[in-house]
Amino acid sequence: MTDIKELLLSRIRDVADYPEPGVMFKDITPLLADPAAFTALTDALAEVTVRHGATKIVGLEARGFILGAPAAVRAGVGFIPVRKAGKLPGATLSQAYDLEYGSAEIEVHAEDLVAGDRVMVIDDVLATGGTAEASLQLIRRAGADVAGVTVLMELAFLAGRQRLESALGGAPLEAL
Ligand code: PRP
Repeated sequence: MTDIKELLLSRIRDVADYPEPGVMFKDITPLLADPAAFTALTDALAEVTVRHGATKIVGLEARGFILGAPAAVRAGVGFIPVRKAGKLPGATLSQAYDLEYGSAEIEVHAEDLVAGDRVMVIDDVLATGGTAEASLQLIRRAGADVAGVTVLMELAFLAGRQRLESALGGAPLEAL
């Protein structure tokens, strides 16, 4: 394992039975509190963003904001928040998606993504892939191109990578 992987993994805390029994929650707050680890993560996210030629980063609420915003500053690209429905004041594009029970909806300011943009999506965790898939649909509906999806962690047993395959359309999915 590379040094950075070891450092990042050592700062992610497993919390059993949160938010409900049977779930092992991956808590990134120890990583955020460690400047060496948070800097290494920010640098890695910025490197992937630049390597794939992205011109904007989309961060997915809420932890995607914490990771995506400093990476955008480091990479020298704009940061666009994709929020849960009802939080953005301007004209929005929205995308609904299915959860295990029920559905959810995310939104982006329509003017923030335009044709010619190449967008890197950043989040902390890829689980079922529903949130990331909906964000890719929003990006494409806005007329922008997808540069890729980059997450800190991929929970491979939930098969998010397979769910994202068609929405990615050949763009890369990287899990640090
Ligand atoms: C978590 C996580 C991802 C998403 C992954 O966010 O931060 O955004 O779920 O799940 P999926 O791949 O199954 O869609 P959550 O909805 O808990 O929101 P939060 O960051 O605001 O707590």
